Amino acid sequence: MLSIVVPTYKEAGNLPGLAESIHRCLDPAGIEYELLFVDDNSPDDTVDVCATLARDYPVRLLQPQGRERDLSLSVVDGIKSAKYGNILVMDADLSHPPEAIADMLGELESNPDAFVMGSRYVNGGSFDRDWSLWRFINSHVATLLARPLVRCSDPMSGFFMFRREFLGDVAALRPMGYKIGLEIMVRGNFSRVLEVPIAFKDREIGLSKMNLDQQVKYLRHLRRLYLYRFGGFAEFVHFGLVGASGFIVDITFFYLLQFFGLDHYVARAISFWPAASWNWAMNRRGTFGDRRRRPRARQWVEFIAASAIGFVINYGLYYSLTTYVQLFERYHILAFISGIAVGSLFNFAASTLFVYSEKRR
Ligand code: GDD
Ligand code: MN
Repeated sequence: MLSIVVPTYKEAGNLPGLAESIHRCLDPAGIEYELLFVDDNSPDDTVDVCATLARDYPVRLLQPQGRERDLSLSVVDGIKSAKYGNILVMDADLSHPPEAIADMLGELESNPDAFVMGSRYVNGGSFDRDWSLWRFINSHVATLLARPLVRCSDPMSGFFMFRREFLGDVAALRPMGYKIGLEIMVRGNFSRVLEVPIAFKDREIGLSKMNLDQQVKYLRHLRRLYLYRFGGFAEFVHFGLVGASGFIVDITFFYLLQFFGLDHYVARAISFWPAASWNWAMNRRGTFGDRRRRPRARQWVEFIAASAIGFVINYGLYYSLTTYVQLFERYHILAFISGIAVGSLFNFAASTLFVYSEKRR
């Protein structure tokens, strides 16, 4: 017994083909199922098509209201209203082969607490597409970024099956954009991920709704999952990455200003400001982006002040170590690194507890 949740947006042309091939695969195998379309009020004849299909197949149409259009949220709505304990999520565009469903269900029945993924990257899996280099790189970078979160070769896949009771609290899901599978793997209580190879096919009818906006959403989604899994440590790493990017801003200004004829002492004194402001903005929008925002000007001043103190600590440590400790007198680089490490720790503590604190106005 299987609930098949299919998010749809402008897929009217694909639904009959999908319903037929699912039926052709599941009916002879004696698998009882429902096919649940979760449609974000598509401006096409999805409603009529579903009504017609419902005469021959166990089709149900859900059209949630009162929220933004979103693939993941649609899947969540589908899961909430699914009537069976085994849940399959798949795309409507026939990219995911219905032939694999019986295999996936077989896996799930012998491992009820697993999360079963239809994967393009395990042995036997494939694509049929001539991907542009850009899309290829994109997909691989996206996959790589999710590596620390899950043990799965194709965490981006939208074709997966699990048992409802191991999902835990549906209300605790906080997905956005496209990667609902990743969300469920990370937040659910599954013992492991099992991968079933699938041959992924390019859609023939209609258009993909994947775009740049979705990719930005993915980065924000990842941030949330990293925070959930790694807590404050994730913030710390993010803060460090921002700091590294600020270092590039710093060095760029440092050389640019000299190129325009400024003395290096002056250039050094000036380049600190754009770099620290860059860090402030990136931390405001990124690292601490989901904290309540404090007034801009005041926060900027505080961040600059904290950075200045951090720099004094950094420099002070460098100076004293290289002046008074023999080891560091010989290896200046060790003092340089120690200075940065302690200075950055201070900066992070000041930022998380003070500059970006939610307890202050
Ligand atoms: N309800 C709803 N709302 N459904 C949506 C929305 C939306 O805003 N956007 C897309 N869908 C539906 C589509 O109608 C389709 O059934 C499915 O979600 C996938 O959308 P596509 O637009 O075909 O996405 P894709 O082919 O680029 O991406 C698929 O493959 C990726 C891996 O290459 C998806 O499965 C992704 O999750 C997956 O990462
Ligand atoms: Mn598609």
